Amino acid sequence: MQKAWAALAQFQARAISPHHERYSFPFLRGSYFVYRKIDVMRVAAIAKSVSSEPTYLDVGCGYGDFLKHVREFIPKAEGLEVDESMFYGLGIAKPDYVRIEDARWIEKKYDLIFVGWMEPGQDFRDPVSKNTDVIVTTLDQGLSLAAEFDGHGFERVASWRTPSWEDVNTEIMNRYYTSMPEQKRTELSRLRGAHNLWYVYAKPAMRDTVVGALKSQIESEQPTDRYDFEQVLDECGYGYLEKGGDSAIPGPLWQVHF
Ligand SMILES: C[S@@+](CC[C@H](N)C(=O)[O-])C[C@H]1O[C@@H](n2cnc3c(N)ncnc32)[C@H](O)[C@@H]1O
Repeated sequence: MQKAWAALAQFQARAISPHHERYSFPFLRGSYFVYRKIDVMRVAAIAKSVSSEPTYLDVGCGYGDFLKHVREFIPKAEGLEVDESMFYGLGIAKPDYVRIEDARWIEKKYDLIFVGWMEPGQDFRDPVSKNTDVIVTTLDQGLSLAAEFDGHGFERVASWRTPSWEDVNTEIMNRYYTSMPEQKRTELSRLRGAHNLWYVYAKPAMRDTVVGALKSQIESEQPTDRYDFEQVLDECGYGYLEKGGDSAIPGPLWQVHF
């Protein structure tokens, strides 16, 4: 961890944008899934369709980068993280809303449980399924099958895709930190192999509620209402509804499929 922090400091000293580090150092400064404010608002709208003051748990929240943004809309949202060293090892204050606990022992019911990019091999489908009727999960295509809740009494009711942080990081490095002919960079930018998939799962009784909430959220979506770091995505060719790249979820980035 100390070495990772030192590498980040080295990068920061030369970075040409304060927004690059979240894609190059997702563990320390960002998240393992690329998101915009519209993703946060979609998840919040789903949670609020279950209850006007929803209970919300982010499982394996890391430092809580996504969770911090969700709390703008769901102030009581909580996180659960097993690795305390990411706070104490680096002297970073752990927010009260993040509990150091193992997700295998979740005991409270939540209106929505969010599982954002779990490591391959980690499988919390049983404890998560038992403690909620609505799940939003993100996974890298082909990597985290254990994040798929079909077969646990849930239906996948909606999905969309966002870029993978690896592709964004590669593009940032090629575009801003590597000297190469423009044609070569363009060729490399077409090699987008990874996609981050967002799956919304609901128990059958919650299906219509969740779908209705997400549909009305999308109708009122304002992609111009956004976080500063989203400009990096636009510059790197990962715009809102941008086409391109083969994926298990067809169509443009951020387009929701029901
Ligand atoms: C790949 S990181 C993703 C972190 C964050 N959700 C994100 O997308 O940036 C997976 C996180 O899950 C945590 N984790 C792994 N096993 C866990 C468990 N049994 N209970 C709670 N958290 C766990 C890890 O410590 C790590 O922070």
